[in-house]
Amino acid sequence: MNEIREPAYRLTDDEFRFICQYVYDIAGIVLNDSKREMVYRRLTRIVRERKLSSFSEYCQILKQNDERERPYFINAITTNLTSFFREKHHFDFLIDEELQRLIQKNQAQKRIRIWCSASSTGEEPYSIAISVCEALKSYLSSWDIKILATDIDSDVLAKAKAGIYDMHRIEDIPETYKSTYFKRGIGQNANQVKASSQLQNLITFKQLNLLHEWPMKGPFDLIFCRNVIIYFDKATQQDLFARYYELLSPGGLLFLGHSENLGPFQKYFENIGRTIFRKPIVKV
Ligand SMILES: C[S@@+](CC[C@H](N)C(=O)[O-])C[C@H]1O[C@@H](n2cnc3c(N)ncnc32)[C@H](O)[C@@H]1O
Repeated sequence: MNEIREPAYRLTDDEFRFICQYVYDIAGIVLNDSKREMVYRRLTRIVRERKLSSFSEYCQILKQNDERERPYFINAITTNLTSFFREKHHFDFLIDEELQRLIQKNQAQKRIRIWCSASSTGEEPYSIAISVCEALKSYLSSWDIKILATDIDSDVLAKAKAGIYDMHRIEDIPETYKSTYFKRGIGQNANQVKASSQLQNLITFKQLNLLHEWPMKGPFDLIFCRNVIIYFDKATQQDLFARYYELLSPGGLLFLGHSENLGPFQKYFENIGRTIFRKPIVKV
């Protein structure tokens, strides 16, 4: 293996291996040698900020299982790439079909519960909230509709909660969505927009490591688990699918990312669209 060198820092094979194991143990994220440069880049920033002289010193801090350091490490190591209406076909399906179906299905309780389980900086839960507002305008005041948005990374959650985005982040969404759901010119900054309070009131943001126990009892009508399981190994994925299954209401939907699949767990779900899976009403 090639060691990466920079004048001040050197990441040895042993240190890299330790970091891979550490991130796997606490977040389930699998890193391989192809991620070495990325790890180096992201952690060098922390080593510098902490005014440490080497990666070795930083690894020592992690080895001491320093509770204060762990969140900084996690926030640095996670990949948070996301966008509004990413994989648009999921939102088209929500607006055109699924949300209306839930209105019929949940008529008795007048309640809809949605979980966005790796929400990153918030673009995904806000896109879900916009879809809800568009499809269920006339039900919003009389129905109890809530979206739970969770992520392991406290930095992205803070950004998501604030709901403030650079204008270019929403440039591809329809004009009517921009004018209805985003306020322009936040404070002095004309290039930023803020998600409307209507959207923000629908969403609760909470920190949650998917590997840990989930405090929510469910059931959820819709669960979004998109572009996160790709970072996990097969065993972790199958374990998570079983847990999502338990938390879904009968007939509830699980949405995965474009390159993700259920693997052997597919037999418990019905594949009803591109990376959209329904938990059958009758258990199979
Ligand atoms: C690439 S982003 C995907 C964001 C969004 N779901 C989407 O599809 O656009 C992956 C997110 O998963 C989160 N993540 C990684 N490991 C996690 C874990 N063990 N528990 C909860 N979230 C995790 C990361 O912090 C990151 O924000």
